[in-house]
Amino acid sequence: MATPPHPRKILITSALPYANGPIHLGHMVEYIQTDIWSRFQKMRGHDCVYVCADDAHGTPIMLRAEAEGITPEALIAKSSEEHQADFAGFNVAFDHYHSTNSPENKYYAELIYNRLKEKGYIARKSISQFYDPEKSMFLPDRFVKGTCPKCGAEDQYGDNCEACGATYAPTDLVNPKSAVSGATPIEKDSDHLFFELDQFADMLKSWTREGHLQTQIANKIDEWLDSGLRGWDISRDAPYFGFEIPGEKDKYFYVWLDAPIGYMSSFKAYCEKSGLDFDEYWAKDSKAELYHFIGKDIINFHALFWPAMLSGADFRTPDAVWAHGFLTVDGQKMSKSRGTFIMAKTYLEHLNPEYLRYYFAAKLTSRIDDIDLNLEDFAQRVNSDLVGKVINIASRCAGFVKKKFDGKLAESWSDSANELYLQFANASEEIAGLYEKREYGHAMREIMALADRANEYIAETAPWVLAKEEGKEAELYESVSVGINLFRVLMSYLAPVIPATAEKSLAFLNLDSWQWEAVHQPLMGHEINKFKALMTRLEMPAIEKMVEASAQSLTAKSVPDGKKDDSKPKKQSQEKKMSENKQTAETGEFDPLAETITIDDFAKIDLRIAKIVNAEAVPEADKLIKLTLDIGFEQRQVFAGIKAAYNPEDLIGKLTVMVANLAPRKMRFGLSEGMVLAAGPGGSDLYILNPDDGAKPGMRVK
Ligand code: MSP
Ligand code: ZN
Repeated sequence: MATPPHPRKILITSALPYANGPIHLGHMVEYIQTDIWSRFQKMRGHDCVYVCADDAHGTPIMLRAEAEGITPEALIAKSSEEHQADFAGFNVAFDHYHSTNSPENKYYAELIYNRLKEKGYIARKSISQFYDPEKSMFLPDRFVKGTCPKCGAEDQYGDNCEACGATYAPTDLVNPKSAVSGATPIEKDSDHLFFELDQFADMLKSWTREGHLQTQIANKIDEWLDSGLRGWDISRDAPYFGFEIPGEKDKYFYVWLDAPIGYMSSFKAYCEKSGLDFDEYWAKDSKAELYHFIGKDIINFHALFWPAMLSGADFRTPDAVWAHGFLTVDGQKMSKSRGTFIMAKTYLEHLNPEYLRYYFAAKLTSRIDDIDLNLEDFAQRVNSDLVGKVINIASRCAGFVKKKFDGKLAESWSDSANELYLQFANASEEIAGLYEKREYGHAMREIMALADRANEYIAETAPWVLAKEEGKEAELYESVSVGINLFRVLMSYLAPVIPATAEKSLAFLNLDSWQWEAVHQPLMGHEINKFKALMTRLEMPAIEKMVEASAQSLTAKSVPDGKKDDSKPKKQSQEKKMSENKQTAETGEFDPLAETITIDDFAKIDLRIAKIVNAEAVPEADKLIKLTLDIGFEQRQVFAGIKAAYNPEDLIGKLTVMVANLAPRKMRFGLSEGMVLAAGPGGSDLYILNPDDGAKPGMRVK
């Protein structure tokens, strides 16, 4: 196989969301999946362009605008703004976001239609359809309701029955009614234009078997091809919100005709601003790569109609159409009454978008299986992987580098450290291969296995122990410098998934950008910046609030038929213990891992007012003062590391606070029977707690 050019020229798209509704977490599966791929390719140094647009045409949009008393243009302008705010909120970085109701799209829709017509691929046929005599409009299937002809269930849509699953024509419904006006529809004839798909049967038969589709999909398409292709109705009669068909009167392109053309027109608009050459990407002989990410519900439009349209109109066809499965929440279809029909906006009001990006990545494969957002698992996974494993590495090492080594990483390492580093850096191609194949879940597992290895290394070298021992400077330096380097490799691999956290990490690591190959150059003798919390833990109560808000914002509107709000969101148990070996206290940095404790946990600590009755320096220890503490019922001897901050004489007679039920610890100079509380980073910058006058030795502090 010839090696692909570098950089590759790649154009990718996500399906265009309808302008008549808000973005929800189901949609986000797709935009996050595509955005990760786009960011990954860019990090690899390829010219990857990611475009999208609002799908702005069609009857539902027209009717929705009418219901809101605004023009369709005003409605789609508002939607576009909201959609783009939601996507930006989730750090989805389109190179361009357009609208199908644009001059570019009109141009390409007409061009493609005219070419198809010239070549004899468009036919005209009269069909009979339901017509609403009150609204003077033809009714799409979804706008006719009635009784199912099979099972007799009432209030079913014109195309299929939700009770028994039967599919039928709207004219088969018993007692049909227009969902727009309530009127009884009449049957009426009109001419429609059809794209003759059967003329592309051979083309499609080979195209679907050339590796452009996932196997599961190619098999499905085979079934459709075998049962024979019929013409596709691409026209709609007025009134309709869309583009008028050239050479026709009161006929419009069906929304699905100009929707995929929106991919082209969004790219065209991007060419105008970036100077890229449109033909280089879309001409028949284009060498650029073209991929469409879509959901499994819209496969026929992308794997049959679209390649046929393109080929018939002398454009290139896509290299691949990649479908993903549908999102379920806690194992079930998203449900408005359960509060699991979660809008992107609602999510963003409660939770960090990076959590969801990571969780989806951990669940996504190259297949079309549905993916489940299990809310408890979500919190557990994010906390244990991102916060507990990855960010923890940086927070454990950063403080030492900053304080002990002036913020500069070691110039050189031992062979064994180097070997460990190479293990990390050499995983880069394997992980890249997984991203490339959209096996994100597998990639996340590989990355987390490395993170486990990094944490083992830190636990083994135990910098917080080395820091206390004499003559261990070099070992400490290597341990924390390697730790920071391993963190940097992990963050580099995760950058396509959690871009905002990766961006913050750049500031901490004092780097300009993430580039895939850069991990082969470790950071040696490199200065880093102060560590700031990169991500906080995902708390179950925040998820519960989001679910409650979703249930509230939707039930009022969407359960008008008296359906009971069946199941309240379950109270979720606090998740499992975090990885045991965290050690941020030593660094004095803000600890993103700090677990909350219960009042019962707190009650276990016996804090007592203590009077310092004697204090003397320990001559053999440069940090310690030996304190004799009176806690009312007895006296305790405590060795406290406060020598740099206090003169022993000044302490005598002072009141302070001690932990009275700490297990006694045998030290070189004697037994230490507790601990006094002091605040501050250490050294001379340390302050013992000093209760107000009136406190008596032995009083319980609570
Ligand atoms: N407007 C069409 C697409 C035109 S593309 C030329 C459309 N819009 S949509 O808003 O309904 O969906 C946009 C994308 O989101 C589709 O790929 C769809 O499959 C995906 N999803 C919508 N709901 C989804 C879930 N619940 N789960 C996963 N993806 C889902 O279809
Ligand atoms: Zn039925």
